Amino acid sequence: MKLFSGNANRQLAQKIADTLNISLSKTEVSIFPDGEKRIQITQNVVDEHVFILQTANTPVDMNYMELFFLIDALKRSGAEFVTAIVPYFGYQRQDHIFRDGEAVSLEVIIKIIQTLGADRVVSLDMHSVRIPDMFTIPVSHLSALPKFAASIIHNGWNGIENILVSPDMGGIARIKKLSEYLDGMDYAYVEKNRDLNSGLLTASGVYGNLKRKKRAIIVDDMISSGKTIVLAAQELLHQGIETVSAFATHAIFTEESSIFLKTSPIENFFVTDTVLIPPEKQFAQLTILSIAEELAKEVQTILHDY
Ligand code: R5P
Repeated sequence: MKLFSGNANRQLAQKIADTLNISLSKTEVSIFPDGEKRIQITQNVVDEHVFILQTANTPVDMNYMELFFLIDALKRSGAEFVTAIVPYFGYQRQDHIFRDGEAVSLEVIIKIIQTLGADRVVSLDMHSVRIPDMFTIPVSHLSALPKFAASIIHNGWNGIENILVSPDMGGIARIKKLSEYLDGMDYAYVEKNRDLNSGLLTASGVYGNLKRKKRAIIVDDMISSGKTIVLAAQELLHQGIETVSAFATHAIFTEESSIFLKTSPIENFFVTDTVLIPPEKQFAQLTILSIAEELAKEVQTILHDY
């Protein structure tokens, strides 16, 4: 087997390689003056099972193009089985038509990956549990929730005075699953409303029993601008919660989000390394939990079943 990496998150690819005790395979990438990329596989991959790690955060289109070129180059070079590990699967929030006339962007990405000949996809905490069903190739849908549960226990936040909270109703399945990992820990969700035209977010209450609860632990699939999670925290504090912690799998972190998050009333944030967070976007209240071991384990499982 061989493990290749795109440029979006080489650190994670290296960690997976280290865990598997293998070297990362090399690719040659050159960029033409007009910005076009040229990717060349320089190692023999004939009849090999090959894994590509490429996450699809900002700049999402560029990162996806790299993934597409890598799949194509590997297939043309004779790789027998190509697994695309896309820890954060960009465009997943556009998984259906919200307003007339829209494209289903996620479906476009899936079609391209499959048409290029990828044989399997591995991803984490996709926006909806139905997304894997949109593929015709097998998808390993992993989750950071067991890691979050371990961290909540480690911090002693699984007691009766604490409550898990989804920042919107769409995350209720996620919060129920996490509650199961934590022996049925209480949970609630914030009623979030988004104006599709202006993008404006508002909260109109919390569903769940906050009586005698002191700490709320908000759990979401991703933090992008940070507005969803901070709005939920404000609503919870307004309802009498004393302290808020936040967990999210994908730290998309748009330009202004770090300042917004670190000056927010949320005491601490836990995210994973599905997306590489550059040092300038990190802040004191942020803890990054690596999912390299989980991904390495999945690589071993896929190889075993292959
Ligand atoms: C929305 O349904 C998602 O689960 C996230 O809550 C949302 O995408 C986070 O985005 P932002 O941080 O920009 O509010």
